[in-house]
Amino acid sequence: MTEAVVEDAGDIRTGKIKLHPPADFEGMRAAGKLAAECLDMLTEHVRPGVTTADIDDKAREFVLDNGALSATIGYRGYRHATCISLNHVICHGIPGPKTVKPGDIMNIDVTVIVDGWHGDTSRMFFAGEPKVKARRLVDTTYECLMAGVNAVHPGATLRDIGGAIQTRAEAEGFSVVRDFCGHGLGRVFHDAPNIVHYAEYRDRFGGFHRAAETELKSGMFFTIEPMINEGKPDVKLLKDGWTAVSRDKSLSAQFEHSIGVTEDGVEIFTKSPSGLDRPPY
Ligand code: MF3
Ligand code: CO
Ligand code: CO
Repeated sequence: MTEAVVEDAGDIRTGKIKLHPPADFEGMRAAGKLAAECLDMLTEHVRPGVTTADIDDKAREFVLDNGALSATIGYRGYRHATCISLNHVICHGIPGPKTVKPGDIMNIDVTVIVDGWHGDTSRMFFAGEPKVKARRLVDTTYECLMAGVNAVHPGATLRDIGGAIQTRAEAEGFSVVRDFCGHGLGRVFHDAPNIVHYAEYRDRFGGFHRAAETELKSGMFFTIEPMINEGKPDVKLLKDGWTAVSRDKSLSAQFEHSIGVTEDGVEIFTKSPSGLDRPPY
């Protein structure tokens, strides 16, 4: 999540980025694997006719049955094990009685805590057959995530990650959401640094924004979680205080991995053990 200020944002404000010793990678591997397995398990449950609350119930049971905790239940008053963001919802959609319809696309985002370590991941799912343009948006968003991941190595910068994502999205005529970003994580859910998914942009008041050129170092843990819109990047927050939708109601997609910077590149903690990282499943 992604606002500039979050509850446990002490380190975000001071900008101090933790460098984890090699032993900490084990903790993140276990947490990342369980989060990925939760999404794997949900795959067959995503179909027309289910409610988003049904899907959330499955996720919560899976996490607790595996002796883990949900990081989102009780987080700033949030009460669910997942965020489920349908169609033009960008992120933080709240599970509820809404029934999934044929052709819907949705992001399911889950964060688990295993032995104190956070595994945070999300993927897009289809209910039935999506429209051609929705499929292209989802494919492009996955490619954006992986372009960002593949830009990670010691000596690269945060700006390189955002640049790789923005270039890929804009080449397809899509836009990068700027109001939410990825985040450091580890024993803390939302830690420094902010991971923006652009290199630069001009806002509607003419202000120029540039991603930080902070250097990546081995032992950094963070998420990359680009949100890509079919139309304009502008966000509207609904009255529930959580659900973020595209202002122009265009479709939005997102994928998220938790990663670690290694001595020579990157390790993805939340890869699907079953190869279910992207649709079609
Ligand atoms: N998992 C989200 C993220 O990627 C955070 C969700 S916070 C919640 O950072 F409270 F909305 F669940
Ligand atoms: Co996240
Ligand atoms: Co997440």
